[in-house]
Amino acid sequence: MGSWSDKFSVNIDIIDEQHKELFNILDKCYELLLKDKENDKYDEIITILEELKEYTIYHFQTEEDFMRKNGYSKFLTHKFAHDAFIEEINKFDIYSIDIDQKKSINDILDVVSNWIKVHIMETDKNIPKYLKM
Ligand SMILES: [Fe+2]
Repeated sequence: MGSWSDKFSVNIDIIDEQHKELFNILDKCYELLLKDKENDKYDEIITILEELKEYTIYHFQTEEDFMRKNGYSKFLTHKFAHDAFIEEINKFDIYSIDIDQKKSINDILDVVSNWIKVHIMETDKNIPKYLKM
């Protein structure tokens, strides 16, 4: 899977650095999907999901603090998008994951790649445009 590259930059160092973490989580998820098909992957899926949850809360907090401090004018719309991602991640439940592990990994991959493609590439990339610095 592709790793972070300049084309994903939002031109704000602290945010770019944290976005690289999201790509690491995406990579781990892909590796898990491709790994030996017979094995039970339940514990590893839960580990990735917990990591994703913690990262998401920590990262969105950083972005929101940055936007507030720098007079970002579309704060509420942006925060709304963040909250929607948190909600989506919280929807995964530990029982359904065990019923169809492959589907769960694919669902996590979908959330993260959609976050990168839509949120980072469109919403986050526009952060500098709406700052009063
Ligand atoms: Fe964002």
